[in-house]
Order: sequence, then C-alpha cells, then structure tokens
Amino acid sequence: MSEEAVEWHAVAKLSELEDEEPEHSRIGDTLVCVVKLEDDIYAINDVCTHEFALLSEGFVDDGEIECPLHQARFNLKSGKCTALPAEQDVASYPVKVEGDQVYVGLPKA
Ligand code: FES
Repeated sequence: MSEEAVEWHAVAKLSELEDEEPEHSRIGDTLVCVVKLEDDIYAINDVCTHEFALLSEGFVDDGEIECPLHQARFNLKSGKCTALPAEQDVASYPVKVEGDQVYVGLPKA
C-alpha cells in the first residue's frame, strides 16, 4: 500500500503500549487491533474471520494472536490466518510513529 493510498489515524500513545498487550481501537466503522512487539508495532483488523470475536481480547504468542473464542491464530505482521477454525486472513494495516503518537493507515475511502 503506497503512502498516498492511505489515510493516517491516531490510535494510541507509544508510551502507553505494553509489549504483547493488544489494544483495541475503532476508526470509523473499522475495528483495529494494535500490538507492540519489542521495537515494532503492528495493526490488523480486530474482527476474527471465523465468527464474531475481537482479536484484541485474545492472546499474543510468537508473533501471532490467538482468537479468544475458538483459538484460530493470525500472524500479526501479515494478518495471515495460521490456525483453524478461521480460514480467511484478516487485513493488516501500515503503522507509523511520530513522537509518542502511533498512527494506523487505512485505505482512503
Ligand atoms: S470466532 Fe475466532 S476462532 Fe471462532
């Protein structure tokens, strides 16, 4: 996704993000799960592709997040589904940090 194709939204303060502690954020109608992993921050769509559950209420392990409802897993970097019962990937979004502010880029409407 090129920089021009996204609109940046402030979602969190870097100083308030804890390693491997997912943060839920809402940007308009889009629910976003933001996770800090050591020096990187990732953002994926927060809604599991199996049934309705928020991935930000799940569990981070080894670069993946596990759905709290039936334990499907998604790669935090790519959104790729890595464990059943979900079969579809979730969207992943670009992240940038300016000072203490964390921004997530969503496709321009
Ligand atoms: S709702 Fe996420 S695995 Fe079922």
